[in-house]
Amino acid sequence: MTDVNSDLVDELVELGIERREARWLVEEFVPGGERDAVVALHLAATRRLAGEPLQYIIGHWPFRALDLDVDQRVLVPRPETEELVGVALGELARRDLSAPVILDLGCGSGAIGLALLDELRSRGIPASLVAVDESLDALAVARRNALKHRLHAVSFVHSSWFEGLDTALEGRFDLIVSNPPYVGDEEMGGLDPVLGYEPEGALVAPDAAGVTGFGDLSIIIAQSPRWLKPEGVLVCEHANHQRNAVLAASAAAGFDAHDLDDMAGHPRILVARR
Ligand SMILES: C[S@@+](CC[C@H](N)C(=O)[O-])C[C@H]1O[C@@H](n2cnc3c(N)ncnc32)[C@H](O)[C@@H]1O
Repeated sequence: MTDVNSDLVDELVELGIERREARWLVEEFVPGGERDAVVALHLAATRRLAGEPLQYIIGHWPFRALDLDVDQRVLVPRPETEELVGVALGELARRDLSAPVILDLGCGSGAIGLALLDELRSRGIPASLVAVDESLDALAVARRNALKHRLHAVSFVHSSWFEGLDTALEGRFDLIVSNPPYVGDEEMGGLDPVLGYEPEGALVAPDAAGVTGFGDLSIIIAQSPRWLKPEGVLVCEHANHQRNAVLAASAAAGFDAHDLDDMAGHPRILVARR
């Protein structure tokens, strides 16, 4: 880092930005120490100090091996979702498929599905992906990320869960992955205010079966068997308090299911095998 840049980092730290984030902002906005970029840096610092997530200010963020474009149209991809991708890859590896067909429900930035395609490609496995979202804004971001990473075997579908999918796809998926909204409406107030910058439709789900925020998961779990191949698997992220509910719904849908903790030790990832 040049002298000019480390002065700028100090300046942001004095304004109240954490040193690690200050370095990130300076590297993003003033990579070569150009003085005329300092105005843009100060605008970015002002947004950060107002509480906006760093990821939206920078406009891109690493997820697994990808650098994904992100903005306020999509959820900021989370580290626990990177774990979900690892679990899904493990499920595909167990079955040693030569050309898996994958469905990503609620694709947002494209994080899960695109990371799977990318990592399968680097193992020489040509997968194909159907990426669904009910938000046209999110689909636009996901499409841009697919182009950015030259991932072409993707169909983007504007749909509420399975509703708009071509029925010719029934029974055709080896893997369904999803990180659906799972926060209850009344829970939002008590959570990190950063969530207020993210699309509400990416976070909040109705209650179902007496479980807060379980409405979207219950639809996905109940309807997935129809769209999976006989040996197919559903891998889903969920909230801490939803473990019993996802396991009960999976059993009712005929799955052989187990549930995994995330790295922080919280119940997080449902693995439901047909
Ligand atoms: C928690 S975000 C996950 C985004 C991305 N998969 C990730 O992990 O970063 C949930 C996504 O589901 C989408 N979504 C919400 N309700 C939906 C529905 N009924 N049908 C399809 N997508 C939906 C939202 O627009 C949002 O992009």
